[in-house]
Amino acid sequence: MKDLDRLYNEYKNAPELFQAGRYWKAYEDRIISQIRNADIEQLRSGKYPIFGTFGFSEQVYNYRINMPFYKKLTRQIIRKLFITNRAILPYSIKLSDIREMAYNHCLLQGQIANTTSISEFETCTFGNPEDLFEINSKKYTMQFLNYYIRFCFAQKNLQLRGDETIVELGSGSGLQVEILKKIYPNLTILCFDLPAPLFLCEQYLAKALGDKVVVKSNQTRDITDLKNIEKGKVYMFGNWNFPLLQSFKFDVFWNAASFGEMEPNIVKNYLSYIKENCQYVYLLQARKGKESSGTSGVATPIKYNDYVSMLDGFEVIEEADALDAHRKMSQSGGYFQAVWKKSN
Ligand SMILES: C[S@@+](CC[C@H](N)C(=O)[O-])C[C@H]1O[C@@H](n2cnc3c(N)ncnc32)[C@H](O)[C@@H]1O
Repeated sequence: MKDLDRLYNEYKNAPELFQAGRYWKAYEDRIISQIRNADIEQLRSGKYPIFGTFGFSEQVYNYRINMPFYKKLTRQIIRKLFITNRAILPYSIKLSDIREMAYNHCLLQGQIANTTSISEFETCTFGNPEDLFEINSKKYTMQFLNYYIRFCFAQKNLQLRGDETIVELGSGSGLQVEILKKIYPNLTILCFDLPAPLFLCEQYLAKALGDKVVVKSNQTRDITDLKNIEKGKVYMFGNWNFPLLQSFKFDVFWNAASFGEMEPNIVKNYLSYIKENCQYVYLLQARKGKESSGTSGVATPIKYNDYVSMLDGFEVIEEADALDAHRKMSQSGGYFQAVWKKSN
């Protein structure tokens, strides 16, 4: 855990604008203490629901974090007694039908985006995902398919050739990076995140893509400028290293379900480092902003139109409701995904 402690110390000593906002502060300590006691080989097994807050949610049934024991038990009983009775689900649908429909949705979105088909690659199984299934001898989880759907939307608009440089802030589990790199092995990707997600993400990506591809945070910590970034690699940085991007030209900035969990001044600060330097921005966020109350959630929700104003100098080229592979993303009042292009 030395690396985690070091990351956390560096983060705590960073300026206030690089500290998590109120929404994420509520998770931070719990995630760190869970990592200390976790078996990393079980990262995706559902054994650690708190890791689902940043993308490692690969169970079939998602029980809410901190759900009281009696509620969990009731749900388990209901599941045992009734859910296996297929007739109770609409049109007598089975889990395998849902998976197949999600897979077929991916096949179609891949064709629309004119990109590599989901049938040509598969998920890494590190972390023992509970929701692992096979279609045509390839392994998937629903979450993996979800990130492929996001990629298809982005690719329709970005038309990546495969040699671009992408910066992702708030990479979470790294499953999006896994998809991007499996489709385009020559992409260069710079990931920035808070210490705890970063610590797990870099270990996952090293398994999914190989140790040689991933430059971990203990190797990036002494980087003082990005002149010598090696093409085709994935670099893992603490979010407080974001100022390194100040004069670094790249192609796409990517942020999914992350800006919405920050406060507007924090988001504006991040954007100030990238707005002059990239050609495209991909965002997937809660359309009406994340939950907010007097004491919890975000203090000031950021809505779709706020992103449009913050991205002055860019124009929206496509905006749509965000989709998972098997449904519309409907939590928090719905999500949008959109691609912005730098105006001439
Ligand atoms: C809900 S997760 C989304 C993860 C991933 N992008 C996805 O779509 O599954 C939110 C991510 O934003 C990151 N995040 C939250 N607040 C942040 C901040 N102030 N600075 C940098 N990253 C932050 C978290 O660490 C986490 O990785």
